Amino acid sequence: MDTLYPNMTGWKTIAEKFRAKFDANPRVYRAPGRVNLIGEHTDYNDGFVLPAAIGFYCWVAAGPRRDDKLVVYSDEFRDQVEVGLSTGALRPSRTWSDYSVGVAAQLEKGGFKLSGMNLLIHGEVPIGAGLSSSASIEVATALALTQESGLSIGRTQLAGICQQAENEFVGMRCGIMDQFISMHGRANRALMLDCRSLQFEFVPIPESVRLVICNTGVKHKLAGGEYNRRREECEEAVRSLAKALPGIHAVRDVSREQLEVHSELLSEVAYKRALHVVNENERVLNGMEALQTGDLQRFGQYMSESHLSLRDLFEVSCPELDLMVELANRQSGLYGARMTGGGFGGATINLVDAQCAAPFAESVSKAYRDKTGIACTTHVCMPADGASLVEPAEIAR
Ligand code: GLA
Repeated sequence: MDTLYPNMTGWKTIAEKFRAKFDANPRVYRAPGRVNLIGEHTDYNDGFVLPAAIGFYCWVAAGPRRDDKLVVYSDEFRDQVEVGLSTGALRPSRTWSDYSVGVAAQLEKGGFKLSGMNLLIHGEVPIGAGLSSSASIEVATALALTQESGLSIGRTQLAGICQQAENEFVGMRCGIMDQFISMHGRANRALMLDCRSLQFEFVPIPESVRLVICNTGVKHKLAGGEYNRRREECEEAVRSLAKALPGIHAVRDVSREQLEVHSELLSEVAYKRALHVVNENERVLNGMEALQTGDLQRFGQYMSESHLSLRDLFEVSCPELDLMVELANRQSGLYGARMTGGGFGGATINLVDAQCAAPFAESVSKAYRDKTGIACTTHVCMPADGASLVEPAEIAR
């Protein structure tokens, strides 16, 4: 993906729109979506993940107001909300604005004083594709709100505030992965995060490969409710296992041996969920080692195993994702393919030899359309940088 030209377009578009709407020059922030290479449904189990930021952004243009209001205009929904700051009265409205107003609410709850502000939001991360459009809105809003209010809050803390906004304001009990990578992403690198300690390490993605994203074009309605249910099932597994293993706090603390020895304490469903998490954590750590030693075949193998485990043990895949992976497995140049993100639709991530990436994307997309009648969008990319204030001079360079 060419990163220079679209960024310039994004900056100009949003700055012009802000000027037209609020009659002032804004400062422009942006935060990327992400793709997860491996480590799915492990973040809220205190486990390990290996995501990368991608070059699709949520752009937020911001400018000051004289009063204590926060006015947020959404370019996509052509809708505006206005809320009073410093009143302690910010409440969810169950609309698009909860992602940004929720961040303001959590910042205020944390004791941070925000200035009155106009925001214009323009999101380009595909919605419902499992590429974290929500996190990109939260993170871009968080940077804009804090920097324009003269607050300096560390990126990791800010990622946590965004996650809380989604947990408490939007009602999706997501883990920390999406907000964290949107804040901390780095070009050409994936990020290995320990979701308990929040320690992280970058791993270079070799020039010889591309990350190919294939969007199934479907998002099943169940997704939100089923996600929270998976989280409860993991919590249930921990509660049951804690009867025999009193020191444990999360599935992260359980070894495969312990899980087998105490499996009779668990319902069949809780056992399957926990087994996925235990194995997936191990795949992330082994996968990280494989990437570091340049063993792409081995990494690809872990990706394939991860998909099967998400399909059979965690049960968050769907026929369209399974088909997309199956079609990918027939192409040359593929190291590994799996669903990415929460599941129940959305996209797959494919690690593909750079030379083969374009024909790979074309063949998979055609075969998928032929089989399902659904158009498939594909993106050939490399990891991008995390959220930032964007100066026009910087992108015009
Ligand atoms: C969604 C959530 C993340 C993570 C993934 C599954 O993207 O927002 O926190 O749990 O699903 O790995």
